[in-house]
Amino acid sequence: MKLTLKIWRQANSEAKGNMITYPIDGVDGDMSFLEMMDIVNEGLINKGEEPVEFDHDCREGICGACSMMINGQPHGPQRLTTTCQLHMRKFNDGDTITIEPWRAAGFPVIKDLIVDRSSFDRIQQAGAYVSVNTSGNTQDANSIPVEKAKADEAFHSATCIGCGACVAACKNASAMLFTSAKVSQYALLPQGEVEATDRVMNMVRQMDMEGFGNCTNTGACMIECPKGIKLENIARMNREYLKAETLG
Ligand code: SF4
Ligand code: FES
Repeated sequence: MKLTLKIWRQANSEAKGNMITYPIDGVDGDMSFLEMMDIVNEGLINKGEEPVEFDHDCREGICGACSMMINGQPHGPQRLTTTCQLHMRKFNDGDTITIEPWRAAGFPVIKDLIVDRSSFDRIQQAGAYVSVNTSGNTQDANSIPVEKAKADEAFHSATCIGCGACVAACKNASAMLFTSAKVSQYALLPQGEVEATDRVMNMVRQMDMEGFGNCTNTGACMIECPKGIKLENIARMNREYLKAETLG
């Protein structure tokens, strides 16, 4: 396949970025999107030019690092798929592909396609944990009965990989899907009840402080989420928040 790539290049967080066009030849349909990007970079390095910076780690859909906007869609055209698991067979010979970083106040661009997603770390640090009593009297977690349906839902919420596609897809750059998945994985389990009030209040406060917008129930986040995190999580987080505010 011959393709024309239009890639966002930005030297650093202060610099003014722009789209640069790169023609590429010999792309195989079995290559992953990131393997195609590797070839672009090999070409640039061989010419003595700066390679395109992009985030990646696991390349198997579990770390959430490979965040990029492909033809205006977070993680590209295939549903429930991260960029690293997207194959070039989804594109056609002669296609032009635009590749940009996430765009949100809470995710400032560091360089080219890499954004700073430490805002997500700070939201997690605000409450996405269960404090453990290490006195030696801790109850064995397996001795606490958990309803199967709730365990399954909690597990599903916990599959959020923190990639930020939900923010990138949202017209308000809202982080509600991410935050609510993290709130839900604890809210659904008895182990999470002890700190439930502080958790939701602190995480929502941090989310607002990081500059993310509010949810207007458009649902683009759920459509673009590579892990299929559902809007029900947002409804649950809102209920948890209301409960926390009312009951203190
Ligand atoms: S909710 Fe989905 S899109 Fe948002 S961070 Fe988690 S996995 Fe990524
Ligand atoms: S590189 Fe880890 S999810 Fe894509």
